[in-house]
Amino acid sequence: MYKNFEYYAPTKVVFGKGTEEQAGTLVKEQKCSKVLIHYGGKSAVNSGLIGRITKSLDEAGISYVTLGGVVPNPHLSLVYEGIELCRREQVDFILAVGGGSVIDSAKAIGYGMANEGDVWDFFVRKREAAACLPIGVVLTIAAAGSEMSNGCVITNEKEGLKRAYDTDLCRPKFAVMNPELTMTLPAYQTASGAVDILMHTMERYFNQSDNMEITDSISEALMRTVMKYALVLVKEPDNYEARAEIMWAGSLAHNGLTGCGTEGGDWASHNMEHELGGMFDVAHGAGLAAIWGSWARYVNHAAKHRFVSFAVNVLGVLPGASEEETINKGIEAMESFYKSIHMPTSLTELGISPTEEQIAWMAESCEQATGGANGCVVPLKKEDMIRIYEMAK
Ligand code: NZQ
Ligand code: ZN
Repeated sequence: MYKNFEYYAPTKVVFGKGTEEQAGTLVKEQKCSKVLIHYGGKSAVNSGLIGRITKSLDEAGISYVTLGGVVPNPHLSLVYEGIELCRREQVDFILAVGGGSVIDSAKAIGYGMANEGDVWDFFVRKREAAACLPIGVVLTIAAAGSEMSNGCVITNEKEGLKRAYDTDLCRPKFAVMNPELTMTLPAYQTASGAVDILMHTMERYFNQSDNMEITDSISEALMRTVMKYALVLVKEPDNYEARAEIMWAGSLAHNGLTGCGTEGGDWASHNMEHELGGMFDVAHGAGLAAIWGSWARYVNHAAKHRFVSFAVNVLGVLPGASEEETINKGIEAMESFYKSIHMPTSLTELGISPTEEQIAWMAESCEQATGGANGCVVPLKKEDMIRIYEMAK
């Protein structure tokens, strides 16, 4: 049965070699008067990218201020700093140069600029934003998909809380994607990004509905493609085709396309990983890889047909004597893929060993964040999540 859906992907994509040189022109099209160039730790400065972006803005006659220092699992304190800077400098457009963390920090500054009061209120569901300053992106890592998504994930580092706020208001106006820019990524970040891209598709793929064949087929092709080229990148990090396939997949995986007709998807693994990120500051994709297998073993009984299709159509598993056998082979095949790109499949491999108290705290916090039921395959309560975190140890 086809489910009604809305698909809204307003971001202009400019893809390919040398496209960052168009940043100035693209910003100018937005008819803004002052820009904040927002970036991360050092990779974009060291590679000369920030220099090329400022040159391009200078040539287009656009004035700007800069704010670097965004860390992975981006901090609320820098968001506050950015809002203050933008108010002082009367910034009306934000150009994020970096990955999901930089883009999300830019989106949060955008929300803070366009609304009164404390921006954190939106992330803890106290109230809704009415607007967001326009955002543009020059992407440097294929992973989070924030360059086209409605998502924004910020960590309140003082409280150890990582929270998402999703509205169409923050979808970027444009996204510049040059796959070459991702060649300087450490192997761990490349692999972690590939996991996140897969998981954005899997979160939508695993659900209780019958689905649309076209959406399923797009999702399955996307997952096969990402797995194929993530393996290539382990050996050949400078392979342009592989970088390009994964970069484009990253945007398609999280711009809503693979969710058309799936009623939103599950997202339980993501919500549980956000707790890990808030408490232990782990890389997002690696955190997902560490808990997915345990989640899958815990819930697959409730969506057997989806887990069978995943095993056969995505992982190429030969159907076993029973559905259960096929499903188990599929989960094992996915975990062995994660291992082959050097991603963890347990919390120990992720490098953390949460105590019982910490697990109970994360499960409680996740239950609160998800309103008492995390996911749709099996709506997870605190006790279920404790079980999954324990299984993932
Ligand atoms: O700070 P620098 O020096 O740039 O280093 C970064 C960072 O350490 C480095 N990096 C990025 N591009 C590079 C590079 N290093 C060398 N060469 C390059 N070209 O990579 C590290 C990770 O960067 P980050 O932006 O944190 O990665 P990612 O894109 O994976 O973003 C992760 C964040 O996005 C959130 C995650 O929770 C996490 O906070 N997500 C955002 C979503 C959204 N807005 O829709 C959805 C996702 O599910 C996710 O939750
Ligand atoms: Zn993600």
